[in-house]
Amino acid sequence: MLRWCLIIVLLVAYLVPRTAANVPPRVPPRYSGEAQKLADPTYGPIPGESDHYSSYWGIERPFPGNIQDPVFPTEDGPPGEDDEVWQNLLSAEWIIFEFYQQGIERFTDQDFIAAGMPNNTRFRLMEIRNNEAGHLRVFQNMISPTSIKPGACKYIFPLSDPHSYLTFMTVLEISSMAFLAGLAQQVKAESARGAIAAMSQTEARHQAWALMDLWKTNPFAGPADTTFPYANQILYSTHDLIVPGSCPPENPEYPHPRQLLPALFAASNTTSLSPGATITLNFTDADNQPVFDPCIQYYAVFCHGVLNISVPIDTRGFPDRPINVTIPAAFEARGVIIALVADQIGAPTKESVVAGPAVMLEQPARLGPELVRKKYE
Ligand SMILES: *[C@@H]1O[C@H](CO)[C@@H](O)[C@H](O)[C@H]1NC(C)=O
Ligand SMILES: *[C@@H]1O[C@H](CO)[C@@H](O)[C@H](O)[C@H]1NC(C)=O
Ligand SMILES: *[C@@H]1O[C@H](CO)[C@@H](O)[C@H](O)[C@H]1NC(C)=O
Ligand SMILES: *[C@@H]1O[C@H](CO)[C@@H](O)[C@H](O)[C@H]1NC(C)=O
Ligand SMILES: *[C@@H]1O[C@H](CO)[C@@H](O)[C@H](O)[C@H]1NC(C)=O
Repeated sequence: MLRWCLIIVLLVAYLVPRTAANVPPRVPPRYSGEAQKLADPTYGPIPGESDHYSSYWGIERPFPGNIQDPVFPTEDGPPGEDDEVWQNLLSAEWIIFEFYQQGIERFTDQDFIAAGMPNNTRFRLMEIRNNEAGHLRVFQNMISPTSIKPGACKYIFPLSDPHSYLTFMTVLEISSMAFLAGLAQQVKAESARGAIAAMSQTEARHQAWALMDLWKTNPFAGPADTTFPYANQILYSTHDLIVPGSCPPENPEYPHPRQLLPALFAASNTTSLSPGATITLNFTDADNQPVFDPCIQYYAVFCHGVLNISVPIDTRGFPDRPINVTIPAAFEARGVIIALVADQIGAPTKESVVAGPAVMLEQPARLGPELVRKKYE
């Protein structure tokens, strides 16, 4: 009798649909548990209310950047419809936040002045770092309580000198603008699309500051910045900034989903990335090289503004014979050009992309080839 009761109870428990319910978070013992306080969106300074995310002048990591563990779910139930996108964004934001944090730790005001930069450069970098801390908090709050909020990994950045640091900053900001334009297409909630558009405005302001004050150039990129639909491909191209194996093991795969496409960049002998320049393609990950089918015509697809132009490439004889391509001369030399290799004109689906993308900085023009040189140093 007792046995039957037990079986019935178990069956009922199994068959009754599970609804969201508060559960004590399952925090593995290797974490202090402090990060769980972040599960409450009202904990700590609130972005949009507190000036902490603008005017914090400490060198130490600002909240919530000082709490680097993942935040474990506090409710049982299915994930929110956009959780995956916000998790990808939070993982990307840890990279960006740490880039500014480490630059502030590494360089002094005097280092930037000696590199010919304005005397308030480090002050502005602190403000940007604070904005990025605010993005961390916004993205944490966007992830529903049924999903994990990813923690920080360890990162490798070009921190050898102020000039290359600021050059990298310039491409990082414009890349964020491009992948945010792509992520806005992935989220389902309309309010999420608005929030992502608002974040990309912040990155655009950071970029405008860099162009005007640091590089003394025109801050405008023409009528449209570059939009790129396959945001996760850009996110994946940042994986060489993450120290392998350094992420919390509970973090979701970054980005998810990902295609593990071969990395693409202009070859080391590139002297110009301007429209009209001929470059040689390099697939920079020795362990992940593309395999070209001799019966297929491949294209280098260049995205700029809201346009793209496809240029047929000659892949016969690869890898012994290098692949050259001319960057479309028709493009205005501003903003950024995003290049990839595809097996269809216009790369109409993410599956048609076979390598890349490569983010090629156009403005200021001289920094494009500088970034190429730095990459191979
Ligand atoms: C910083 O630079 C500005 C503009 O070049 C100058 O007016 C100001 O006096 C400088 N401040 C300091 C503390 O050097
Ligand atoms: C291609 O990339 C690899 C890996 O970064 C580098 O070692 C190699 O020198 C590059 N080749 C050219 C021609 O740029
Ligand atoms: C770049 O160097 C490669 C050899 O590594 C060469 O085959 C290619 O023609 C060069 N490309 C340009 C644009 O000079
Ligand atoms: C690539 O371009 C360079 C420079 O224009 C040229 O020297 C080289 O022969 C080209 N290589 C191929 C395979 O077309
Ligand atoms: C390129 O442009 C075509 C035509 O507008 C469009 O269908 C395609 O999705 C675009 N590709 C990318 C990668 O944006």
